[in-house]
Amino acid sequence: MKILVTGGTGFIGSHTVVELLQAHHQVVIVDNLVNSSDVVLDRVEKITGIRPEFIKLDVTDSSALDSVFTKYSFDGVIHFAALKAVSESIERALDYYKNNIGGLLSVLSCMEAHKVKKIIFSSSATVYGLPESVPLSETSRVGVGITNPYGQSKMICEQILVDCAKADPNLEVTLLRYFNPGGAHESGLIGEDPNDIPNNLLPYVSQVAVGKLKKLRVFGDDYNTPDGTGVRDYIHVVDLAKGHLAALSHNPTPGKPDIYNLGTGQGYSVLQIVRAFEKASAAIIPYEITARRAGDIAECYADVTKANQELNWQTTKSLDQLCADAWRWQSQNPNGYKSQ
Ligand code: UFG
Repeated sequence: MKILVTGGTGFIGSHTVVELLQAHHQVVIVDNLVNSSDVVLDRVEKITGIRPEFIKLDVTDSSALDSVFTKYSFDGVIHFAALKAVSESIERALDYYKNNIGGLLSVLSCMEAHKVKKIIFSSSATVYGLPESVPLSETSRVGVGITNPYGQSKMICEQILVDCAKADPNLEVTLLRYFNPGGAHESGLIGEDPNDIPNNLLPYVSQVAVGKLKKLRVFGDDYNTPDGTGVRDYIHVVDLAKGHLAALSHNPTPGKPDIYNLGTGQGYSVLQIVRAFEKASAAIIPYEITARRAGDIAECYADVTKANQELNWQTTKSLDQLCADAWRWQSQNPNGYKSQ
């Protein structure tokens, strides 16, 4: 298939592009590079032997995007391009709504004009807000207790896609709700490269292990979890990327989106992550316990039965592999894609 990948130079996007190319799909990437680097294109070429086509543009620029749709005749779109930092979204609410909702509207308008009928959308476990219980399944309550504009923007995008699927039963919509992605490609050539000091646990721990940051702050040890620290479902980014390929070849339900959780089904605490990363890196990760972070929940992990059964997709990589791959990427590229 010929696939447009928006945000294809980002962390999850780049790993998905590798899997698409290795499965002999043709890929065109559009990305504005605000949170990624075009060095990714060299690295993807090194891994796959194929250089994906790339057009630098912002997906909210619908006339630029329309010209890409005119030039290529796409079979489908995987829409990653979005802003994604939770705390930043509170300070820059309008930017988040403009980018994340405006970007989706622009992609959908181009798809309508060019009769492209397949979209896979990057959603997030954040739409579950404050969980009533765990594990979270696709029928769990959504929308209650979302504490930031980033999460709200994903929720609104899901609703837009529900309505568009209803309006056009030929539109094939898949919503993939990601849990906590981590790891890197096993080559160590592509991985997560945050612009600034990372907000998320895994990139933060990696940067402590490599010596760029001094110590981790563990946000609370008084949650109702086995060791008191927050529990999340950390999924290897290559397993996550493969979930998109499974979604591409799945037979859709007409008139409504197919929704899948992409996680492992297993939760790990912050301290378990620290120990797993110490093992992978042979480094000591200094940490201190601090107050809870506003908006955090105790536990969040997925029920992945639906994706296992309907997409015939399973995760294959363990937490130890995730940490080992993250460490290979971090130690080989201490400054990410910037020159050393
Ligand atoms: N944590 C720390 N110290 C840190 C960073 C995080 O102790 O420096 C803890 C958090 O309190 C939490 C866990 O590590 O218990 C994971 O935190 P992350 O920030 O890595 O991830 P979140 O689960 O808070 O959120 C992430 C993404 C969201 C996404 C959500 C999906 O940032 O975009 O997962 O569940 F929506």
